[in-house]
Amino acid sequence: MAEVHDRPPEQFTLRVRRFNPETGEAPYWDEHTVELEPHRSVLEGILQARDKFDGSIGIRCSCRQAICGSCGIRVNGEPSLACHTHLDAAKRSAKDGVIEIEPMGNMPVLKDLIVDMDAVHWKKIQRVTPWLLAKQPVPEREYIVEKEAMVDVTQTMACIQCGACVSDCLAMEVDPGFIGPAALAKAYRFVGDPRDDEQFERLNDLSQDPQGIFDCTHCFKCVEACPKGVNPMGQIMRLRRIAISDHHIVDQNNGERHEAAFTTLVRDYGLNHEAELLSRSYGGNSWFGKLHPAAGKVLLASLPSIVKAIVRRKIHPKLALFGHRIARHDLAAIQRIYDTVESRPERYELNLYVVGEDET
Ligand code: FES
Repeated sequence: MAEVHDRPPEQFTLRVRRFNPETGEAPYWDEHTVELEPHRSVLEGILQARDKFDGSIGIRCSCRQAICGSCGIRVNGEPSLACHTHLDAAKRSAKDGVIEIEPMGNMPVLKDLIVDMDAVHWKKIQRVTPWLLAKQPVPEREYIVEKEAMVDVTQTMACIQCGACVSDCLAMEVDPGFIGPAALAKAYRFVGDPRDDEQFERLNDLSQDPQGIFDCTHCFKCVEACPKGVNPMGQIMRLRRIAISDHHIVDQNNGERHEAAFTTLVRDYGLNHEAELLSRSYGGNSWFGKLHPAAGKVLLASLPSIVKAIVRRKIHPKLALFGHRIARHDLAAIQRIYDTVESRPERYELNLYVVGEDET
């Protein structure tokens, strides 16, 4: 059987999104057919198109080995490293056999496939103080830390700053000011480092910021987008757990109470109960919580969306008001999980990345 690398060259058509701000023209699509062995990368395809047909195609690249993170683009709508995406795989996932190539999202396009990483990605990385604020006194030689203590941060260290998670972040699409998955994963790099002296300060800052850790909506897009398995959303959840459970930080954005409301609702009903989520988020578990003025204000502001969802049959009024019901024995099983977890003397963080399992 022929080795995968022995397969003869094939033709691949690339549909490339072009944009040159200097011409003042709107973005447009451009097609080129290249000939390469199927195991070659989309980056090699783009470079061949540039060499043979149009020297003006703009793309950033450097290492060509999925290390430097500079060749982030979208291939068939998915954020990818151009040098780490095989042409045959890209063709298989293309709608009409033509590989669609676009610049990453959530960042301004400078030219063709080149986005302005400084304006968004690097600015956000700077926001989280991406360096160690060392414990004092600094030892004369090196800090001695337990090996196990560093294991947990190794996942965030795998980040190559390609911006794929930023490109696909739905929260950032709605709120461009959100600090975002890459920068918050970077924040965990130092929050989780036993040599850092400002764990509380960092977490308090990221909790109180309305565009900080509680702005993430758990959509999992960053987890799927990351080519290095960094699991940015998982790091954001770790930041939240340490902020809430270890430092008891109560944020001005109601994020801590909102998260607690989800937890108690699932414990009480087995599933989320939308109608009670708002009142519990503001007033806790008490019946009077429903009368909390802030809850009423948010409810009023949400009414148009609620009515729209009912009209479009996305929610059923009865279900929204009274919640889901699950079988009694299933609810009891869920409550047993809570009892087991809550009776532990210490929180147990299992990093599946480190033990070699997929965390998603
Ligand atoms: Fe370096 Fe693709 S060129 S990651």
